[in-house]
Amino acid sequence: MSNSLLNYASITKKISMSIIGLFLAAFLLVHLTINLMLLLDDGGESFRAAAEFMGKNPVIKVFEIILFSAFIIHILLGIILWFQNNAARPIGYQRANITKTSLMSKYMIHTGIIIFIFLGLHFIHFYFVKIGLVSGLMGEDGHPDFYNSALELFKQPLYVIIYIVSFLALGFHLNHAIQSGFQSLGWEHSKYTPAVKAISTIYALVISVGFTIIPLFILIAGK
Ligand code: HEM
Repeated sequence: MSNSLLNYASITKKISMSIIGLFLAAFLLVHLTINLMLLLDDGGESFRAAAEFMGKNPVIKVFEIILFSAFIIHILLGIILWFQNNAARPIGYQRANITKTSLMSKYMIHTGIIIFIFLGLHFIHFYFVKIGLVSGLMGEDGHPDFYNSALELFKQPLYVIIYIVSFLALGFHLNHAIQSGFQSLGWEHSKYTPAVKAISTIYALVISVGFTIIPLFILIAGK
């Protein structure tokens, strides 16, 4: 393959990775908003209502297919880009730039692997119960009782620690991912870059701190 074709393929991959990554980041805000309802003092009414709406809405069902495809493509592209960055040999004046990029990619794959492992465990706790692959706590209506499942899960300090470590990795992953996602989409400018960096950090903090509050509150307050 010619150099320009290789460059084109690499840029296409980066742009796809960015669009999908930003979509996944947006999903997290919706997921967090619903999960924070676990902390309301209403016996799970709001959380159940939101979960039911999400479960029955046909738009959400289509969204779920897009979401899972996005996860798989994001992971595959991430692995391919990581191998490509590792294979790149720094030469001449490009040395500093490439070295910095490979370091960043290395750091992204590590936090990415932690999130991937977390998702495996998280699906065993919730999603696989929903699709009937794993048995779990069921409600009187015969559907999974995710409200009480979450409360039971986060009464166990080991799971609280595993979830919080994963949210920390997620925060680091998001902070760099959002910045570099916007960069790959061409938003690199002395005017916008500081704002993009600030937005990425604030978003990453909101997501990771927001998710962390849930298990911590349940464990400490003993809901
Ligand atoms: C305290 C933290 C969290 C709790 C209590 C929680 C709870 C849940 C529950 C109850 C479900 C099943 C929802 C349903 O299908 O009706 C679910 C699904 C899911 N969660 Fe989480 N989650 C948490 C954090 C996360 C994080 C940090 C991620 C991503 C890195 C994530 C990704 C997913 C995905 C991809 C699904 C399946 C998609 C879906 O069903 O819509 N979750 N989670």
